[in-house]
Amino acid sequence: MKSDKGEIIICLGSSCFARGNRDTLETIKFYLKSNQLEHNIVFKGQLCSQSCNKGPVVWINEQKYEGMTASNVVPLLDQIFNANS
Ligand code: FES
Repeated sequence: MKSDKGEIIICLGSSCFARGNRDTLETIKFYLKSNQLEHNIVFKGQLCSQSCNKGPVVWINEQKYEGMTASNVVPLLDQIFNANS
């Protein structure tokens, strides 16, 4: 279901952060701002959740997404939050 409300949690544990979430964090921030979603979507960080081997991980609306990158997070956000329509 598409929505303009929700919650994004990004893992800021050292493994995920070093392997890509450092850039993914900036990409998500920019995405929310440029799509005027920053007031509707809660965006926060979380410490390591012991999923490092499947990381970098990001949770969107309580669903866990593994192997996230700054590139593949954008189509995922479009799909979930429908920002371009
Ligand atoms: S650092 Fe992200 S799950 Fe461990």
